[in-house]
Amino acid sequence: MQQTIAKVDLSAIAWNLQGVRDKVAPAAVMAVVKANAYGHGALTVSRTALAQGCTHLAVARVDEAIELRKAGIEAPILVLGGFSHDDAFFIPRFELQATVFEEQGLRQLSAAARKAGCSIPVHVKVDTGMGRVGVAWDNALPFVQRLLKHQELPLQGLYSHFATADWLDKSYAELQLERFRETIEQLQRAGIQVPLKHIANSAAILDMPDSYFDLVRPGVMMYGYYPSRETTESIPLRPAMTLQTQVHYVKTIERGESVSYGRQFIAREKTNIATLPVGYGDGYNRLLSNCGEVLIHGQRFPVVGRVCMDMILVDLGGCADVAIGDEAVLFGRQGDQWITVDSICEKINTIPYEVTCWISKRVPRIYWNAD
Ligand SMILES: Cc1ncc(COP(=O)(O)O)c(C=O)c1O
Repeated sequence: MQQTIAKVDLSAIAWNLQGVRDKVAPAAVMAVVKANAYGHGALTVSRTALAQGCTHLAVARVDEAIELRKAGIEAPILVLGGFSHDDAFFIPRFELQATVFEEQGLRQLSAAARKAGCSIPVHVKVDTGMGRVGVAWDNALPFVQRLLKHQELPLQGLYSHFATADWLDKSYAELQLERFRETIEQLQRAGIQVPLKHIANSAAILDMPDSYFDLVRPGVMMYGYYPSRETTESIPLRPAMTLQTQVHYVKTIERGESVSYGRQFIAREKTNIATLPVGYGDGYNRLLSNCGEVLIHGQRFPVVGRVCMDMILVDLGGCADVAIGDEAVLFGRQGDQWITVDSICEKINTIPYEVTCWISKRVPRIYWNAD
């Protein structure tokens, strides 16, 4: 029997990126493919993004970038996150671009570049208000001046990240944008030109055209989701992923009988139950116990009882024509019905980013609609 699969529609990713490119031109596009491309499969998504005209890729960790290089990706890859002392030596070896914002990172990269006998293009991360990492925006100039003493570390970019661009109230995002602009102006006054200045994530791409600069960094919107319900939908998006499985077992239970751990569902009347071979081990969240929904034969059925590691149970009610092997959709479209990732997020209080990132390694990604 076919196992649980995540079907990824590459034409949706291409379409979403085309929408981004049309909106942000002439700014370039750096496709954010960290965390296995938000669960969609970093390599195939990277290839699709590059074919679609993205000029750069971004990942969070050095090992994510190495995986792409080893698979033959030649485009510039920026590592957004930090790196260990050992990681630093892989950065020149795999011709990666690194993020710097403090002295230790600078020293480690400098040592790695000198040891490799080549240069490492760096992007300086500026903290304009996200409060995670980055050199404080009003202290960026002296840091960049120290960086410029390292010829082996050419300044390729300056970037920052928004904390609230996905809010309806853009006042804090505007403050961050203003600080970013001021940082750029300070550098310019000191005679420093930065080739790539970038700050826009998906929310800013949708709602803050003043934030595009030289390059934008779309993540979640590439995969077809709006970052929140408060952004506009100024670019039409198509969700790329469908999570589906096949009915594993069907049975009838009598009133008073229960299904799954903890007897959290007890039948009020005789009913038909389908068992599906998917669970939290595949990334179907346990919080969907007794509240998820599934499409079978283009009809919606409730998930009943606790979500197990490898199985869930679905109440088919009086519907008796569901058979072993029938397709069941956990999110995505079936017939004219659609279970949206947003509807799952609403039920269990999370964001689309997390829902697709959850899909675990054991779920094969099946690509379709490739060019
Ligand atoms: C530094 C940075 N840039 C861009 C993105 C993409 O953000 P989004 O998925 O909201 O577009 C992320 C994602 O978290 C990020 O950390």
